[in-house]
Amino acid sequence: MKNFVFYNPTRIVFGESKTSKIGKYLQGRKCLFLYGSGSIKQNGIYDKVLESLNEHGVEFVEKSGVKPNPVLGFVHEAIETARNEQVDCILAVGGGSVIDTAKTTAAGFYYSGDVWDFFENKARISKALPIYVVLTLAATASEMNSGAVITNETTKQKFNIQSDTLFPKVSVLDPTNTYSVPNRQVANGSVDAIVHLLEGYFTGTHPNTPIQDGFVETLVYTIISATRKILENPTDYDARANFMWSATLSLNGLTTAGIGNHAFPNHMIGHSLSAMYDVDHGASLSIVFPAWLKYNESALSERLAHFGKEIFGKTGVTETIGEIENYFRSIGAPLRLNEVGIDKAEIPGIAENAFSLANKWGLQDYTKDVIADILGYAL
Ligand code: NZQ
Ligand code: ZN
Repeated sequence: MKNFVFYNPTRIVFGESKTSKIGKYLQGRKCLFLYGSGSIKQNGIYDKVLESLNEHGVEFVEKSGVKPNPVLGFVHEAIETARNEQVDCILAVGGGSVIDTAKTTAAGFYYSGDVWDFFENKARISKALPIYVVLTLAATASEMNSGAVITNETTKQKFNIQSDTLFPKVSVLDPTNTYSVPNRQVANGSVDAIVHLLEGYFTGTHPNTPIQDGFVETLVYTIISATRKILENPTDYDARANFMWSATLSLNGLTTAGIGNHAFPNHMIGHSLSAMYDVDHGASLSIVFPAWLKYNESALSERLAHFGKEIFGKTGVTETIGEIENYFRSIGAPLRLNEVGIDKAEIPGIAENAFSLANKWGLQDYTKDVIADILGYAL
């Protein structure tokens, strides 16, 4: 076990009907209430949140329109609204895109320069507005971590920030709020959570991490079986609950504590697909991850064989990668670049874009040629 610090201060309020508790935590505050394109109005979550805010006398100002793969221009607007309205916290009701927009707005609120400076490491986040969440889509774990990912739509860069100030204070996780999540987003969430787990599992450097391996294998297994149940019956409470908590635990620091140095190369390449072509985050990963495994097949053979045995009851290395692809395919996730409208000629441009993130993440081994070779397996 490597030395580590594990810190996670987010209060999780989990369970059916917990949405009505959000007002209690916001009592006495004035918040910027952020949400997406309106699914919360169709599925009744908006009404439940409003009722709770009103019941507890919480003041708020609404801002809707966060789009998937959220953009910097919207964050600039949200910061201006937050300042003009003199709010003292942010309430995010949505999935990762809404939460990340809330986090970035919270950090930008106190900063006199352009909030993008934080993404380019030109400035450090020292203070942020408190963030509260009602989660509507299980996938990213943004509800219980300190990161945010935003696309600069002008420069076509999808970059991240991280700061202890960005952990949400409270996140309400009501599995029934995810009953209306469409299959495409269920698949995206399933792939995303699984790849969060497996980035660490396959890049971690310590050879003896039975606790962390066990966490990862149990979570992957649970996510796969819960996803299948959800696709059959979207209102299966236990499946939604198991999926939701698994996704949160997949990127909240728990499974990587003690594994030593590890990296997120699949996210690095996937972010370029989203930045340049607006590919869904989950879809970017279902394309990149099998390709990355094939590129690294011999280096990862022992680990792949172990994983294959634990999850699929198969020990062949190529067979295990095939099983991962079969799973992604079975839930409707794309596997090849042409399935999202990208052809071979575009690979050098994607590699160039991803390489700028490789520098930022200290992954200089991922040269443009290496990235292009990996993407070659996704044709
Ligand atoms: O716009 P709305 O109405 O909210 O609709 C959304 C959106 O169209 C819809 N949706 C959400 N909850 C729903 C629902 N539809 C019906 N019923 C519900 N209950 O789903 C669509 C996708 O939402 P989005 O928030 O974009 O999805 P997700 O949670 O997968 O977030 C993806 C974003 O998070 C980033 C990704 O890169 C991407 O930008 N990530 C954030 C991370 C973090 N902060 O730690 C880590 C991840 O690796 C990831 O990079
Ligand atoms: Zn992800």
